[in-house]
Amino acid sequence: MKVVSLVGARPQFIKEALVGEAARAAGAWEHVLVHSGQHYDARMSDVFFQELGIPEPKYHLGVGSGSHAAMTAAVLTGLEKALLEERPDALLVYGDTNTTLAGALAAAKLRIPVAHVEAGVRMAPKTMPEEINRVLSDHLAAILCCCSSLGRENLAREGITSGVFVSGDVLYDLYVRMRERFEPEAACARYGLEPGSFLLATLHRDYNVDERETLRGCLEGLVRLGAESGLSVLLPLHPRTRKNIETFGCGDAARRLVLAEPPGYLELMSLTLACAFVLTDSGGLQKEAFYAGRRAVVIMPDTGWRELTDCGWNILCEPRADAIAGVGESLARTVPPPGNVYGEGNAAGEIVRAVRQQLS
Ligand code: UD1
Repeated sequence: MKVVSLVGARPQFIKEALVGEAARAAGAWEHVLVHSGQHYDARMSDVFFQELGIPEPKYHLGVGSGSHAAMTAAVLTGLEKALLEERPDALLVYGDTNTTLAGALAAAKLRIPVAHVEAGVRMAPKTMPEEINRVLSDHLAAILCCCSSLGRENLAREGITSGVFVSGDVLYDLYVRMRERFEPEAACARYGLEPGSFLLATLHRDYNVDERETLRGCLEGLVRLGAESGLSVLLPLHPRTRKNIETFGCGDAARRLVLAEPPGYLELMSLTLACAFVLTDSGGLQKEAFYAGRRAVVIMPDTGWRELTDCGWNILCEPRADAIAGVGESLARTVPPPGNVYGEGNAAGEIVRAVRQQLS
């Protein structure tokens, strides 16, 4: 049996590290890795391959950045060639990026079954590029692996009931596996910070960083929140955010924050363990903060990880200076952490088992 696994953006490298390894360890199938090239900077791509020990991809489609259509089209045509050459029994795709949707579409048109990892996540508004990618990928997939039972419920509401598995979250597997390698004190020291003395912020979503006023509001909100809570603010910068801070002339607000390059997995998790709390628009980091016992302020209109917001552990917040500066009040309320909603740390093995079962 042969499975092609398609990755292209940061969060997908992390998930592939474990799923690819679980497939090889079980001798489940020949695992052929394809990198779309959606993320290409060393700190957005290579660092994950190195520190997580992901083998070199057999194919690199080199699509780079571009409009949604250009990027999706380039993955679609590039991947089709690789699929025709490999003739796999299934294509594995992860998450909700343009790479995910293009991969699912290319395979479905060739009648190659699609396995979607992180299926069934739903959030408003429906116009978000990631929501479009998620919904369409799920409807093209034959095997749908959800992080929690909420994913299965969401899929059932759309009439998708066969090939659905609740496998758990691969990010939790990775957290459990890697936690001995996290070095919170050393990571803080690199930025001149003391453990517990800072909040860790990440912003990269188009709706938060692509408009001048919104981006400025987020940065000013961070400055005020830091001042009011007596914490430094560490902000590692996605290339998109860095570029927009320069283009929009928001450097004055940003200069009052501790800025950093995008960290690799080990450094980001070390910083998460060391921080007082997280403020983010990353889908992955809002769960990883929970694994590390930290609460997260989520700068998104909605979240797919409702298990963490419904109980008040994570808090949704608008991308406005006043809202961000005022979030300290909600954080001051003590909330018991929710239980183990995303599995037992064996999601990668469960995903491999589900794919095998469906293909046999
Ligand atoms: C993409 C995903 C998003 C995911 C994120 C993880 C889509 C629609 N969005 O967003 O869901 O949370 O990845 O990081 O697929 N850039 C570089 N170097 C790189 C990569 C990007 O400079 O290696 C810059 C380019 O200017 C590019 C911009 O960042 O135009 C945005 O990159 P893109 O891949 O389109 O989306 P992300 O914001 O990374």
